[in-house]
Amino acid sequence: MLVISDLAQPGISLARPLSFVPTMGALHQGHAALISRALELSDSVVVSDFVNPLQFNDEADLAKYPRTPEKDIEVAAAAGATQMWFPRLAEIFPQDEEIERITPGPVGELYEGASRKGHFSGVLTIVNRLFSLLEPTWALFGEKDFQQLFLVRQMVAAHNLPISIIGVPTVRDLDGLALSSRNVRLSPQDRASALVISRALIAAAAQSDCENMVEVLRSTLATKPGFVLDYAVIIDEDTFAPAVPSTARKRGLVAGWVNGVRLLDNMPMSVAAI
Ligand code: PAF
Repeated sequence: MLVISDLAQPGISLARPLSFVPTMGALHQGHAALISRALELSDSVVVSDFVNPLQFNDEADLAKYPRTPEKDIEVAAAAGATQMWFPRLAEIFPQDEEIERITPGPVGELYEGASRKGHFSGVLTIVNRLFSLLEPTWALFGEKDFQQLFLVRQMVAAHNLPISIIGVPTVRDLDGLALSSRNVRLSPQDRASALVISRALIAAAAQSDCENMVEVLRSTLATKPGFVLDYAVIIDEDTFAPAVPSTARKRGLVAGWVNGVRLLDNMPMSVAAI
């Protein structure tokens, strides 16, 4: 695997078509699953590793974000990536060029967007910038950040970008916790509290109507005092509007904190789909 710090470096020529896995580093098996899926699409798989300052609205959260570049190289290489790209700040934000700022639209103001002002504008601005530098044929995103995946798809459609966006199902630990770079900050006791999230989503998915799904989701989450709820909702996957009985593809979304660590998860709300 080739490690690149600047795409314009002399001698860099990327085999095309290529698949792209954008990350903020702290790679885990969820990222490895994205890389494996990318390898089914193309022989050339570029992983970017860039902690995007634009998507943090809290300086402390940005400072605490785990940075593990050596381990990231190992995980990406073991998963079969062909190039690992560590963009420099100057490549992303050149002094002589104003990069295009993306506004996410109304869905970007909901849920994660409501709790983290400017978050999705920051995400989409950087994803668009990475896309314009790399021009991938496919880009892969985890379903764990389901709203991000929705908004990236929306941006690609609105801007007519010739890129196929591929969503990859969430990878979980054996105990059910969705893999996340933030999990390293959980103590064993925190982790025990965090497990209420997947438990609540599974319990909700076993219900047959939306009202019961919401009720069971929230009441199960309330059983763990160590978990502080931000939102727990059932949405229509295709529009992000609240689900109604006739919604074909319902999804439960949960976000909250355990001991100050923000955790997100989601699941399709049909027992057969889990
Ligand atoms: O999901 C992430 O890791 C980030 O939001 C992304 C897509 C790499 C943009 O910084």
